[in-house]
Amino acid sequence: MDLKQLNAFIAVADLRSFSAAAAKTGLSQPSLSRLLKQLETDMGVILIDRYHRPLHLTEAGTFFYDKISTILTEIDTVTSMTQRLSAPSSGLNIGFVPSVLYGLLPEIIATLKQFSPDIDVNLKDISSYQQMEALKAGEIDIGFGRFAHQDPWIQQILLRHERYVVALPKAHALAHIREQRLIDLANNRLILYHQTHLPIASTVSTPASHKLTTNTANRFDTHETSLSNEPVTEPLLHLFAQYGISPFMTTTVSDLQVALGLVAAGEGITLVPASLTTVRTEQISYQRLIHENVTSPIYLHTLKDFVHPKIPDLLTAIYHVYEQRGITYRRQKFM
Ligand code: BEZ
Repeated sequence: MDLKQLNAFIAVADLRSFSAAAAKTGLSQPSLSRLLKQLETDMGVILIDRYHRPLHLTEAGTFFYDKISTILTEIDTVTSMTQRLSAPSSGLNIGFVPSVLYGLLPEIIATLKQFSPDIDVNLKDISSYQQMEALKAGEIDIGFGRFAHQDPWIQQILLRHERYVVALPKAHALAHIREQRLIDLANNRLILYHQTHLPIASTVSTPASHKLTTNTANRFDTHETSLSNEPVTEPLLHLFAQYGISPFMTTTVSDLQVALGLVAAGEGITLVPASLTTVRTEQISYQRLIHENVTSPIYLHTLKDFVHPKIPDLLTAIYHVYEQRGITYRRQKFM
């Protein structure tokens, strides 16, 4: 068994067609068929059912595909990491989720540049989940996100917990109340904007007894709340669910900016990390929540086995900014 055979098998399994797989791999169709036949003969197992169109994997083929594609991804990751170890890049490529850009990221980068004037920083707007793949592929050296990720290749440092605030249209009846409770917000349309959902294991099932329903008309991707015992994986709904509350109506949009645009237009309310309170302040009133544990974590992610030489300086810059601003945090070290 060799890598050529395995890559040929993955291409056929992904595309379900010998001709498409041949085009993708740059092999002729007879060479591709020969590689697959050799693989099956070496293993003594039929992996592909050739008698149906589109092609199907046999049960053994499906099992082999699942396992071998993970191994091939790992081989790619190890190859890319080894190349970077032998020639580390001088620049620091940083992936970030948009919400940290509104907060301290610009100040942290400015501080890093004071400590390390020769540093070349590249910033890339990329979701928490995509940061994991980008780290492994060497597209970024570090990622700032708001979700914990369990991945054997990645180490994560919890930098701090940032409190959520409620964003209300200025004309809203609750807009001037300084300390808000989630229960008082439950009768509003809640605008959801997260693209990543929480891992199932850390979720809470919403107690059905606290759920409310409504028949309000739909716009955007709008949902009535329904009775269910499914775990609540949407981060904002999860926060409400921790208090046994289910907002009476939700609208899902593509990102934070759109969510705040809808709040500004009087379409509903949302919760955002406190660093967003400078956005659209003419139309939006931001108020604190009384619940201390309604927070959004900020994580730093990097590869376990390859820490870019500038990352310790970056961590020093982050802690320096926290201290200057009197932000509570717990200092962490890289392994
Ligand atoms: C923060 O707000 O704590 C933060 C923002 C960007 C990068 C790192 C930390």
